[in-house]
Amino acid sequence: MAKLSEKEARAEIDALSEKLHYHNYRYYTLDDPEIPDQEYDRMLRRLQDLEDGFPALRRDDSPTRRVGAPPLESFEEARHIQPMLSLDNAFNDEEVRDFDRRVRERLNWKKRLAYACEPKLDGVAVSLVYRDGVLERAATRGDGRTGENITANVRTIRAVPLRLRGDDYPPEVEVRGEIYMPREGFERLNREAREKGDKGFVNPRNAAAGSLRQLDSRITARRPLAIFAYGVGEVRDWTLPDRHSLVLERLKDWGLPVNPLVEVAEDLAGCLDYYDRVAGRRDSLAYDIDGVVYKVDDLGLQRRLGTVARAPRWALARKFPAEEARTTLLDVEFQVGRTGAVTPVARLEPVFVGGVTVSNATLHNRDEIDRLGVRIGDSVIVRRAGDVIPQIVRAVVSERPENTRAIEFPDHCPVCGSPVEQAGDEAVMRCSGGLVCAAQRKEALEHFASRRAMDIDGLGEKIVDQLVERELVHSPADLYHLSVETLAGLERMAEKSAQNLVDAIEDSKKTTLPRFLYALGIREVGEATARGLANHFGTLEKLRDATEEQLRAVADVGPVVAHFVREFFDSEDNLEVVSALLEAGVHWPAVQPPSEAEQPLRGQTWVLTGSLDAMSRAEAKDRLQQLGARVSGSVSASTDVVVAGPGAGTKLKKAESLDIEVWDEDKFTAFLSEKGLL
Ligand code: IVH
Repeated sequence: MAKLSEKEARAEIDALSEKLHYHNYRYYTLDDPEIPDQEYDRMLRRLQDLEDGFPALRRDDSPTRRVGAPPLESFEEARHIQPMLSLDNAFNDEEVRDFDRRVRERLNWKKRLAYACEPKLDGVAVSLVYRDGVLERAATRGDGRTGENITANVRTIRAVPLRLRGDDYPPEVEVRGEIYMPREGFERLNREAREKGDKGFVNPRNAAAGSLRQLDSRITARRPLAIFAYGVGEVRDWTLPDRHSLVLERLKDWGLPVNPLVEVAEDLAGCLDYYDRVAGRRDSLAYDIDGVVYKVDDLGLQRRLGTVARAPRWALARKFPAEEARTTLLDVEFQVGRTGAVTPVARLEPVFVGGVTVSNATLHNRDEIDRLGVRIGDSVIVRRAGDVIPQIVRAVVSERPENTRAIEFPDHCPVCGSPVEQAGDEAVMRCSGGLVCAAQRKEALEHFASRRAMDIDGLGEKIVDQLVERELVHSPADLYHLSVETLAGLERMAEKSAQNLVDAIEDSKKTTLPRFLYALGIREVGEATARGLANHFGTLEKLRDATEEQLRAVADVGPVVAHFVREFFDSEDNLEVVSALLEAGVHWPAVQPPSEAEQPLRGQTWVLTGSLDAMSRAEAKDRLQQLGARVSGSVSASTDVVVAGPGAGTKLKKAESLDIEVWDEDKFTAFLSEKGLL
């Protein structure tokens, strides 16, 4: 470095800055990186070294200025040139129609009226002032007129350009947008916080707000924040395009990330349709949104409409049903699952949340109860997002009533009374009763009989419950000794269905080794693993005698699975059940490792992205593995095919940029059905 002249250093700094700005834009704005992350990091380090050697050459908009600056005493006030407004809300289609009617009446507009439609991002509103293309000030919304100057923090966000691209921009422009934390980054941040014994954030929005509120921007720099720009405030000496959607295009040209789901709807019907489509994709997005926003696209008409109080007349937020609501924790019960896991279940005062009435929520395990610090009788916030099981996210401790009581985790199984144990460093508590425990027996039997296991038609939950409660069946092997008379004695069981069930049980004796292994319910052994084990070892005896090391030689079997398989076959009780099943006549043909014809995808790598209507991603993965494919979580040059359902995002883009074959769901299901797997 010392050998470099100042002139040479300046030239290299300029060149590196230029490149780094460009790659930032590719990565954050276009979502289409050109170079690997390591290469970016290498250039950034080189630039940092040069700037350390020549501090005077460090530019205000240098890409290295993302690491944070020394802490502030407090935030300065930042007055907005134009007030930052909020939005009126609508909660159903009718309110959207009313909005469209009001707008048209006011404008006396008879023709079609186009609206820009955007996701309503759930983050923190910011204003970014660029002077001569350089980021000069970033501010929060505050009360709409005055916010806080958070420039040092915002500079650390790589998605925010420190300098606008090109040379065609106003001498002064205020960009408005939303800073958010992508879900993945939020999960990672919370995981790290919890590992350190900290509480973590309740949701990505709070995490984003908390990160921006740091007086020490070096902390903000380590937080995974991003931005989408959605409008402009003040512009000086410049003529903007006459449509909002075109303004967004311009922002993109300047290097600001604009949400890819933005569309223009030709009329009200298009707006309502947009809501439905975005709502359907909500859960598969990489970030939280809480609705969609409609904006009259024509800026001339926007001006004519003007604003009332704190919200413009030309825009409307159509909100999704709230995902969080407040209710009371009435009690906690403990359920015992097939693996013996004892799960605390919260009984709640019924509450409408996420579009349905919820009266139960999971509390996961004892650690979660401790983390939440929740007590019976507390007022709690319940969250239900999409199809996810409702969760308690926090207790409203400041309003704790007087008569609350602690949640006591049982030390004995509520079903069979066996001691409850904590295995290793697992968070879950398990009933140690095994098949002695009726709860575990019921679940084990239901799983054993399920369609993809032994496929015993007619042996559903109701029958299993009775068989276990009347002590007619203790282990799966007992199923094979049930008589028509015994079954006919059960509730809701006529002679005819009893006969059918006996026949179905008889038929199930003829099975395959993979099905049998899956049916045993060995922990972590799903269908694909069962198939892998069967193909690898060929016989039950060889599998039973395999060491953990030998087990790990099977594709997709890691130390955890190997351990559970070994543990299963080390148990005398389990071995007895297996022998009893074989004695009862359960049998299978010799395992033929699949031929090449049966595994047409052998040697190929597939990636699944987005959602599928016909099956879950896990099922799709299983089918692909059956056909011999390796299923990977990320797209790379070695990917052969990407199956992209609705909601596919970055992976799809990456596949397209790498020219990888992409299949939609129709093509995928047609292929599976041709292979007899649908
Ligand atoms: S436009 C005058 N567009 O929603 C228009 N806002 O309730 C004001 N928000 O504070 C904002 N996504 O933080 C607009 N696509 C979007 C938005 C959006 C999220 C937030 C913004 C604002 C709040 C208004």
